[in-house]
Amino acid sequence: MLRSHLLHSASLAIAGVAAFACIGVVGSNAISHPHLNNGPADQGPKMAQDLSGDAALGRDVFRFETFGTEGFWTDAVRLPAGIAAAKVTPMQALDLGLQVDVDAVPPEVRERLARELKADPSGRSSGVLNDATLTSKLIMANAVMGMSAKGDKVGASCALCHSMSDASVFESPKGGSIGHRIDGPANHSLNLGVIFATAANTRALYTVSQVALVANKGKTLGRAPTGLTPLSTEADFDAYFSNPKYYPVGMFDDSFDGNGDPMHNTPLFRQDLAAPYGSEGTFTRIDDFSNLVFTSLFDQTMLTTPGGRAFVHKLAGAAGDEMIDSYVKILAATGVTGYPYAKTTSTGKPGELATPFGVRVDNHKLLAMNAYLASLQAPRGAAVDRQSAMRGKIAFETSGCTGCHNADQSRLVPTTLHPMGQVWPGDAPMVLAQREPPLNPVLNSPGIFDDKMAVVNASARGEKRGVAMPLLLDLARKPVFLHDNSVPSLEALFDPRRGPTAPHPFYVAKTAQRVDVVNFLKGLDTGTR
Ligand code: HEC
Ligand code: HEC
Repeated sequence: MLRSHLLHSASLAIAGVAAFACIGVVGSNAISHPHLNNGPADQGPKMAQDLSGDAALGRDVFRFETFGTEGFWTDAVRLPAGIAAAKVTPMQALDLGLQVDVDAVPPEVRERLARELKADPSGRSSGVLNDATLTSKLIMANAVMGMSAKGDKVGASCALCHSMSDASVFESPKGGSIGHRIDGPANHSLNLGVIFATAANTRALYTVSQVALVANKGKTLGRAPTGLTPLSTEADFDAYFSNPKYYPVGMFDDSFDGNGDPMHNTPLFRQDLAAPYGSEGTFTRIDDFSNLVFTSLFDQTMLTTPGGRAFVHKLAGAAGDEMIDSYVKILAATGVTGYPYAKTTSTGKPGELATPFGVRVDNHKLLAMNAYLASLQAPRGAAVDRQSAMRGKIAFETSGCTGCHNADQSRLVPTTLHPMGQVWPGDAPMVLAQREPPLNPVLNSPGIFDDKMAVVNASARGEKRGVAMPLLLDLARKPVFLHDNSVPSLEALFDPRRGPTAPHPFYVAKTAQRVDVVNFLKGLDTGTR
């Protein structure tokens, strides 16, 4: 497949020159010109979306909705208690990448902060930013994006990872900032591992940590050499989550499979273009993705319900059963009671993508958020050298990139999943466990690129184990590349010195052309012509 792809691209070198001529002559129409090689001929199957919801309501759902899961973060994980006990200052919170909504900061605090920042723009001497008692005040005022205050409890919302501030008031060198909300961009600086380690009962995050199970003969899958067990202490859990080698900045382990498989955060604007969802492409509908986040990740005790157990059993068999039994023991040992917390309605069958645990949160609100996530616009492309970017577009087309990616980012991302062996020729999977079709066996290759896809992949909807196409938007702000954070820059991503068996081994051989391709990519937005 790869070989024929490369042949295909070589034969397009001449078409590329023609494309360049076209840009000069017809300007903005060039991109839709039929004979240009703007993307794969096969754009993949169409995926139905319901975008008819109330986007204004969807905005509130995105920013603040928790559906009762504040009980999980406050009473099980005890994040607010941990933040208070560690005396985390607002400055330290900003250094962890958290974003502060200046419009929600109480006026007297905002005015004091403005005076202090005028005197010392670094903020290091600011009384406000160094006052630990103000951190919980800011959280309870809903000023810390994605930490949603509900009565005396604090939950998580989608905004935690998928929002930034415009940094108009202050920006920490480590990426946290204070300013007006911008919903949708990925927070690449969020240090979730350390935030989770700060919680008073990090053990309640057992299923999204890296575990070692008796059923797996103690083998463990992830970045750490050994896995956690029900006997591991709070300090052991903290050591795992706070180690950036195991839990890198900008990543979140969004699968409750006991594998240590944090994924790099993604943008959440223009989700009408982004199907299927997740790097492994399991979900074809955003509302189904959102429902799973609310009913499992935001309240992981839902895994202990009959529906949760059925789903985990289907995905992971005896190993899954053992993981849930151990989780129940950990919850008991750490005094967690009164769970589950999420407010859901029983509906559908467990295991179906619309209702993985046989439950759903308020569908009206999910559809409202669909409309909002589709309406959020991508940021403008970076200001790059236009001549270089135009040459880069041609190099993009003639280097085989448009065999998979569209050049025009206002189009839907191709919905095709690319099999692991194509995106990563170094893939050499071993079968860890058989599963009932359409689920493929649990497969794992040495290395981290396929760690999430070992258990969770699109075979849940009868599709192959593979990698979904990403949005090529907001790339200038990205500090690290590929879903597993394995490539340190765009320039490095296309450098053939990464070798023929590396993940995403699609290269631009000449240095000057690579620079052009990088400029082309950094300049991309949905209006690029
Ligand atoms: C704690 C951080 C975090 C929170 C909170 C969070 N997400 Fe995400 N989200 C991620 C990460 C990391 C990914 C990338 C996962 C992957 O690559 O498979 C992601 C991916 C997604 C995707 C797939 C995007 C694509 O282009 O494929 C969707 C849709 C999504 N999130 C929706 C939501 C919604 C809706 C909420 C709130 C209910 C939410 N997320 C809350 C971290 C988060
Ligand atoms: C075989 C299909 C295929 C080809 C050919 C291909 N890509 Fe990709 N590309 C992908 C997939 C799949 C991903 C998502 C990889 C991941 O992170 O798991 C991706 C990711 C990317 C990313 C985003 C990385 C990030 O971290 O957000 C960029 C940029 C990119 N490709 C550019 C290119 C360029 C430039 C070329 C040509 C030199 C190219 N691609 C060739 C399939 C392809």
